Amino acid sequence: MIEINGKTKQLAVIGNPVEHSFSPQIHNFISEELGKNYVYGTFCVESENLAAAVRGIRALGIAGVNVTVPHKQAIMPYLDEISESAGYYNSVNTVVNRGGKLIGYSTDAEGFYMSLVREGFDFHGKDILVLGAGGVVQPLVMMFVKEGAASVTIINRTAEKAERIAATVREKTGADVECKITRARYDLVVNMTSVGLYPNVDKMPSADLDLLDENSFAADLIYNPEETLFLKRAKERGAKTVNGLGMLIFQAIRAYELFIDEKIGNEMYDKILKEVFKR
Ligand code: ATR
Repeated sequence: MIEINGKTKQLAVIGNPVEHSFSPQIHNFISEELGKNYVYGTFCVESENLAAAVRGIRALGIAGVNVTVPHKQAIMPYLDEISESAGYYNSVNTVVNRGGKLIGYSTDAEGFYMSLVREGFDFHGKDILVLGAGGVVQPLVMMFVKEGAASVTIINRTAEKAERIAATVREKTGADVECKITRARYDLVVNMTSVGLYPNVDKMPSADLDLLDENSFAADLIYNPEETLFLKRAKERGAKTVNGLGMLIFQAIRAYELFIDEKIGNEMYDKILKEVFKR
């Protein structure tokens, strides 16, 4: 157990809701492993209280926070500085208090990138299909473009939302993001919708699984259940599958590195997987 004493520094996740977040378990585990004197909790913050909450971070000298739904964009104007990558992704999931100056970073896209690279996927030159148009889609699509994907297609139940994201990415990067399926196969299909999330484990997003073959990857941002129906069906087609746990763990490790301003060894991923998630 971490010993909490007069020198313990505070970390937390702010969002709404936060009670189902795994961030406290992951970050407190890292503190314990590294012998760092930090404690990590949760703050449920209503949107109308966000500005006051940020002032509270400064006033209380909180060392850093992670930011989750629905504040990842809303928090940006209240910070003193936005890192280059957070500016590129237009999203902040990590705020570090450096001597009273609050700096916003984004580690979500990097977390997803690392979870796929770990499984042997190379984004360069790949045709990628995204299902969904929620808050995480734009940063991840921007990352696909940055990493040299050959094409990115976004489809969503509410088509206008996909078209809006595609237009923004097009404007920011010049890449031609599509909103219609025009290919016979994709190298990577990612479920970024909430369809299939516990307890609706018998549901899957409406995507034609013929778009996947044995050289394709199928990824899901969902990690509960461990294998969504989408991943199960994709695996039956021979595709390699990756669930959302890797992204969750990698974005947390990267955030912790920013909190302590030190690199963390690669073995931490496996330790978290084993000790926190019992995998
Ligand atoms: P976030 O909080 O991450 O922004 P969100 O905006 O609620 O999440 O996005 C969830 C995604 O799952 C959306 O793409 C949503 O589709 P819509 O934009 O049409 O709402 C998608 N989604 C949720 N339930 C769905 C369902 N039953 N069928 C298809 N798509 C669904």
